[in-house]
Amino acid sequence: MQYVIFLSLLVFSSTLTKDLKYAFDTKYIEVPVDHFSFTSNLTFKLRYLVNDSFYESRGPIFFYTGNEGSIDMFAQNTGFMFDIAPRFKALIVFAEHRYYGTSLPFGNLSYTSPKYLGYLSSGQALADYLPVIAFGGSYGGMLAAWLRMKYPSSVLGAIASSAPIWQFKNLTPCENFYRIVTNVFEGLGGEKCSETIRNSWKVIRSVASDDAGKSKISTLWNLCSTLKKDEDINKVIDWLSNIYINIAMVNYPYSTSFLVPLPANPVREFCGKINSYNYKDNIGLLTAIGQALEVYTNYTKTTKCNDIGKTADNLGDAGWNFQSCTEMIMPMCSNSFDMFENSNWDFHKYSDDCYKEFGVRPRDEDVPILEYGGKELKYSSNIVFSNGLMDPWSSGGVLSNITTKILAIVIPDGAHHFDLRAANEQDTGTVKSARIFHVDAIEHWLYRYRLEHFDSLGKYKYQDTFYNTNLLD
Ligand SMILES: *[C@@H]1O[C@H](CO)[C@@H](O)[C@H](O)[C@H]1NC(C)=O
Ligand SMILES: *[C@@H]1O[C@H](CO)[C@@H](O)[C@H](O)[C@H]1NC(C)=O
Ligand SMILES: *[C@@H]1O[C@H](CO)[C@@H](O)[C@H](O)[C@H]1NC(C)=O
Ligand SMILES: *[C@@H]1O[C@H](CO)[C@@H](O)[C@H](O)[C@H]1NC(C)=O
Ligand SMILES: *[C@@H]1O[C@H](CO)[C@@H](O)[C@H](O)[C@H]1NC(C)=O
Repeated sequence: MQYVIFLSLLVFSSTLTKDLKYAFDTKYIEVPVDHFSFTSNLTFKLRYLVNDSFYESRGPIFFYTGNEGSIDMFAQNTGFMFDIAPRFKALIVFAEHRYYGTSLPFGNLSYTSPKYLGYLSSGQALADYLPVIAFGGSYGGMLAAWLRMKYPSSVLGAIASSAPIWQFKNLTPCENFYRIVTNVFEGLGGEKCSETIRNSWKVIRSVASDDAGKSKISTLWNLCSTLKKDEDINKVIDWLSNIYINIAMVNYPYSTSFLVPLPANPVREFCGKINSYNYKDNIGLLTAIGQALEVYTNYTKTTKCNDIGKTADNLGDAGWNFQSCTEMIMPMCSNSFDMFENSNWDFHKYSDDCYKEFGVRPRDEDVPILEYGGKELKYSSNIVFSNGLMDPWSSGGVLSNITTKILAIVIPDGAHHFDLRAANEQDTGTVKSARIFHVDAIEHWLYRYRLEHFDSLGKYKYQDTFYNTNLLD
């Protein structure tokens, strides 16, 4: 990779899943644009989704902390909260992270200049939310953990699934992420598959070195527009790399429509196609990849052509790219052990690219460490970090217990926030155990809380925030 890419935690398809399984009431809460200064009294409407069907008085609030995208898709893919809400008589709330979906502080101007975009940060987002038991996956998982750390009096505990809170400078070696993707493809897809990918980069660069080759690749891979400039080669390489990452992330044992519609076990499907292709030369190799790509790009058989820039122009990505340029600086690199093209981590280059794209530079690489404590988690409590070890983002996850109150569980065969999905017949034993662990943790937090806040007759001892149902107004 010759230039810096902003690696999304999730690369979204622009359309929502067809069948909406879970129902909500949509509500809005007025929040300050800037929680931390006295110079502006501007407010905006933050969207949240509420389901009160299981709620009974004094039940907890199960609060999903939002993600880098419209909240609807996450609400449809976090069935775990619905599965356990009846047991706890919980109110379910899914908050939309500011600057995503319809929660735009400055309407359609929000993305037009740093003047407006500058209020997009994790800290501002956390201050938008209170109170509760926090749930989140991926960036949402980071927010769930940080919400508990920053606001322990309003947040009883957090289930932080696949939260790469250590994917920052000096906390995690920069090559770990791509190494895991490589291991997943080697382990589940066989050596030929990862070798084909590993060899493909120089084949692509060599075939695409002239116009005839560029147009050959464009035809082979059904690209919407023909590759023209040398810069386009970098783009197509990024596009491929992101697809491999995504396939590993959502390698669930049943068919899903989380990022895009996909078959069960997509890594195996993808590699099965590559492995069945007995190619002999460069064009054969590129053809094999083209066929296999359809597993990801064309599962529904309705994709007309492949747009290699598609993820760049959707709003969800734009917001995450901005955050990646300000506070979420996650160093990534790959070397010859990986199936990806070699790339170094170059902070200065990264910063220059950010300036070109958004007119901002990262303050420094340490912001999340200074703001959220880095590895010093021992001062906090009531957080369960869960990670699927087949998930590339487990590279930056908390994989071992820190204290008796900051717990980690691993799902050896699990992909990206697998445990937050609804129960399914294809669930593995490991993900079932993880969900039981979560339920036990929540039971324990509520038990301790109630012991402290209610007298022996069950009468409420204090006025406090947990049973505050303002969110229902
Ligand atoms: C809440 O979710 C349940 C289960 O999906 C559904 O039956 C119910 O109608 C929903 N309630 C609201 C208020 O949308
Ligand atoms: C916000 O601040 C402006 C300027 O100081 C003031 O004129 C306005 O009344 C304030 N609005 C509210 C809702 O407080
Ligand atoms: C924002 O929307 C308004 C009204 O819908 C429209 O007049 C304006 O041109 C839009 N501005 C931008 C920057 O898109
Ligand atoms: C998707 O599949 C359909 C049906 O097989 C085919 O006509 C179309 O060209 C494919 N699109 C892409 C982008 O490969
Ligand atoms: C952390 O401790 C719990 C017991 O409280 C245990 O079940 C779990 O397996 C431990 N996590 C790891 C990653 O060892």
